[in-house]
Amino acid sequence: MSYVEIGNISRTYNKNVHALKEISFTIQEGESIGILGESGSGKSTLAKIITGIEPATSGTITLDGESLNQKKRKLISSYRKKVQMIFQDATSALNPRLRVEQSIMEPLSNYPDINPSYSDVSSFSKKRREQQIVRDLLKMVGLKEEMALMYPDQLSGGQKQRVGIARAISLEPSLLVCDEPTASLDVTVQKQILDLLKALQNQHNMSILFISHDVRAVYYLCSRIIVLKNGEMVDTFKRDELYDEARHPYTKSLIQAASVS
Ligand SMILES: Nc1ncnc2c1ncn2[C@@H]1O[C@H](COP(=O)(O)OP(=O)(O)OP(=O)(O)O)[C@@H](O)[C@H]1O
Ligand SMILES: [Mg+2]
Repeated sequence: MSYVEIGNISRTYNKNVHALKEISFTIQEGESIGILGESGSGKSTLAKIITGIEPATSGTITLDGESLNQKKRKLISSYRKKVQMIFQDATSALNPRLRVEQSIMEPLSNYPDINPSYSDVSSFSKKRREQQIVRDLLKMVGLKEEMALMYPDQLSGGQKQRVGIARAISLEPSLLVCDEPTASLDVTVQKQILDLLKALQNQHNMSILFISHDVRAVYYLCSRIIVLKNGEMVDTFKRDELYDEARHPYTKSLIQAASVS
């Protein structure tokens, strides 16, 4: 059984906008899947449905054998804990009034009984527990300890995205959905964030669903790639098959546009 199973997911807005049409694919444990497509192809809609932010019009999603009940929209708590998301715009994803340490601890505050495996805090008081977890998470995403006390407007774009990643991995999700996490960053910082995601994925055996319109980023990070066009899955292939003749003409046009061939 695959770790994540997406079965015939469709999403229609206002009765006539078919944002997603019968999308099916699977993600294995620890696998990184890339979703490639131009603006409006349905990428964010898919991310929101998989994370439970929005319901699908039809179709099924199963994670580790547990079904996300689309009708009730009420997510089983364990599903919510297992799937976390990183957003394109790190600035608006962080509350400007919260210090970095507060932002990072927010998801965990819903689970006071959880002692994450990356921090040795079982014998600590509440306050020391939080300090240690924040310290460990900052280290994991390559930020200095002192940043715990800063506010988002004191951080660079790349640093803010690292805080967003720290928040997202704090609950040790088994699936991390990244919706264009590097789109607003300059090229050098993009590469650093991709490297960080790669390292975290290896260290924690996370599955990653990485959404991008950037062929190069997807090629760099993902072992399997799915191409969306107008809400339809037009192509799916393994990383090393990107340049194969069998690629869909639309995939070829994306490659050409990115001039990586
Ligand atoms: N809440 C909504 N109400 C109506 N239409 C919507 C809504 N959200 C998305 N859509 C439509 O669904 C389609 C897919 O949008 P989506 O945001 O998923 O695209 P995307 O691939 O993420 O694009 P981008 O690369 O620009 O972020 C678009 O036609 C969009 O206008
Ligand atoms: Mg989008």
